Amino acid sequence: MKFFIDTANLSQIKEAEDLGVLDGVTTNPSLMAKEGITGQDNILKHYVDICNIVSGDVSAEVISTDFHGIVAEGEMLASLHKQIVVKVPMIKDGVKALKYFSSKGIRTNCTLVFSAGQSILAAKAGATYVSPFLGRLDDINQDGVELIHQIVHIYRTYGYTTQVLAASIRSPLHIVKCAEAGADVATCPLSAILDLLKHPLTDIGLAKFLADAKKFSESPVR
Ligand code: G3P
Repeated sequence: MKFFIDTANLSQIKEAEDLGVLDGVTTNPSLMAKEGITGQDNILKHYVDICNIVSGDVSAEVISTDFHGIVAEGEMLASLHKQIVVKVPMIKDGVKALKYFSSKGIRTNCTLVFSAGQSILAAKAGATYVSPFLGRLDDINQDGVELIHQIVHIYRTYGYTTQVLAASIRSPLHIVKCAEAGADVATCPLSAILDLLKHPLTDIGLAKFLADAKKFSESPVR
């Protein structure tokens, strides 16, 4: 399973890249706004800055909602850098645009997906990635991980090549559950990736190893 980081924060992207386990980045308009990135020129420059930190795919989301607007915006985003993947919302004109981008060889990430039916439309329209938001489903008492299982099962049954990019991940347990479900990618906040490191027995075991090593190094040489 690939790891993408779900942020527009350059220092967090660098930290994840330095860890050596990062395969790409996803952003959305809310994440860009959170970093204070506003104005078209600044937004476009920020995408290029992200591409220069990582070597994998970087999702950049359109804000148009009509077919011609999505196409024009998506083509402009895709022309910025070869790593850019155009993020398109799961709406009627978005599906039409996914099909158009697919026919032009422009890679896409279909976002705001909350049902298996929506994921079938995204695959049939030729999306490169589909982004089911599992945390937001959990928020309304629906089983987000179960949706990942469903989509993976459907895509494998029919041989759809769209990659399942589990999004809206909130915890290390979500990451593990997505891996069990067969997701192709998990896009996560840095905190969830770093929380995978944690286990109390690792800390206790390391403390003991270091204490024993110190005793050994302090014992007289025979
Ligand atoms: O990739 C989609 C993601 O950013 C949504 O996450 O935590 O806002 O539901 P969240």
